[in-house]
Amino acid sequence: MKKILLITFLCLLYMGIGAQQAAIWNETPAEKQERMAWWTHDRFGMFIHWGLYALPARHEWVKMRERMDDEAYQKYFDYFNPDLYDATEWARQAKAAGMKYVVLTVKHHEGFCLFDSQYTDYKVTNTPIGRDLVKEYVEALRAEGLKVGFYYSLIDWHHPDFTVDRIHPLRTDDAKQLKAMNKERDMAKYRKYLHNQVREILTNYGQIDILWLDYSYPGNNGKGRDDWDSVELLKMVRQLQPGILVNDRLDLKDVKGGWDFTTPEQFKPSKWVEIDGQRVPWETCQTFSGSWGYYRDEHTWKDTKQLLVLLIESVSNGGNLLLNVGPTARGVFDYRAQERLKAMGQWMKFNDRAIYGCTQAPEQYKVPPHTILTYNASTHRLYIHLVDYPMGDLILPGYEGKIAYAQFLHDGSEIKMSTRRHGYGPAHEQNVKGNIVLKLPVVKPLTEIPVIELILND
Ligand code: GLC
Repeated sequence: MKKILLITFLCLLYMGIGAQQAAIWNETPAEKQERMAWWTHDRFGMFIHWGLYALPARHEWVKMRERMDDEAYQKYFDYFNPDLYDATEWARQAKAAGMKYVVLTVKHHEGFCLFDSQYTDYKVTNTPIGRDLVKEYVEALRAEGLKVGFYYSLIDWHHPDFTVDRIHPLRTDDAKQLKAMNKERDMAKYRKYLHNQVREILTNYGQIDILWLDYSYPGNNGKGRDDWDSVELLKMVRQLQPGILVNDRLDLKDVKGGWDFTTPEQFKPSKWVEIDGQRVPWETCQTFSGSWGYYRDEHTWKDTKQLLVLLIESVSNGGNLLLNVGPTARGVFDYRAQERLKAMGQWMKFNDRAIYGCTQAPEQYKVPPHTILTYNASTHRLYIHLVDYPMGDLILPGYEGKIAYAQFLHDGSEIKMSTRRHGYGPAHEQNVKGNIVLKLPVVKPLTEIPVIELILND
């Protein structure tokens, strides 16, 4: 009996140690919520994809798509000279649009580093511009009170030890040829380089608030957690920057502490994103047009209303929006992005109370047709976003007794409420018991999507 107890004890101890080893980051759900509080509150950030690919101006994957080798791609390095780059101007535009944090590609898949790295020559300080552009970016964001994020590509199409795989510019279906190409390449060396550079960017630039590591494609001649040694990499990240928020592309979805938020890409979730039946923090990343990097001849640009709906809907489903800008080779935002940022900023200036600190509305508040609801739990206010401006009355089904006061958010003007509709006619839906009727002006207010603020009774 004693023996059995001892074995059971040892097994439990072993499992306990195993579980501890498996966890990268031990914190309670409440601690995690606290660590992520600023991000959950702020809701809206800017993504910036910028690198050598701004010169060809036809997608950040151009090297892969056009199967260019290093030599063919070299001209973009030789001529990289964004003379109009002004990080302060970028930060101001992000801020004016209502964005609270920014994530910049300090290295994308092409392998080029926008920062001054001691581990490579393939970096910005060796191009004609000759400056550490990441340093300027970090300083400018801080000066404007914005949170600082780095995107760092796990993939590297320039490093000589990064093995050719199914998405590499030099990819081939010929197994023999592939083997020959990879003979001299040593992923262990690349792994070291990757870890060194991540340490470098998390050491040399002060506090970094977000790290976006991109991305894993395990199996079938792809790459995943073993190739990156994701567990050790993330442990180092947590150790260097304990407060940092990390995305979910390290192929560590099943590991405790392996990610902070999930990242639906170019996809607008229609409800709160769940993983294993649990609601999780999420952020959709989206482009203005069909490319992340500057793409001169791409014309599928979303309009302001679509973009605002994207933002509002994300918040109404408990998520964030990271909206991407691809600056030009001269170092300025695409004029089409500038126009949209301005327009969004104009809306945010008057309506940001319906975004910051907001989330999904409690279920008891039914969604009136053609509207989106957001809700601030601390102020106990409900926001009705009028996506299609109604004519006359807006009926709030079952809201009777719940509202203390109603006003337009953009100008703070009162909206009269009633439990009955004026006029004649048969018993109609407006007169249904429990409904509230809001009396709206016929003319739509001069704001892209008018918002009604309801101050709720306790
Ligand atoms: C994808 C693409 C990439 C882009 C990223 C943004 O992973 O590879 O070009 O940076 O998505 O989420």
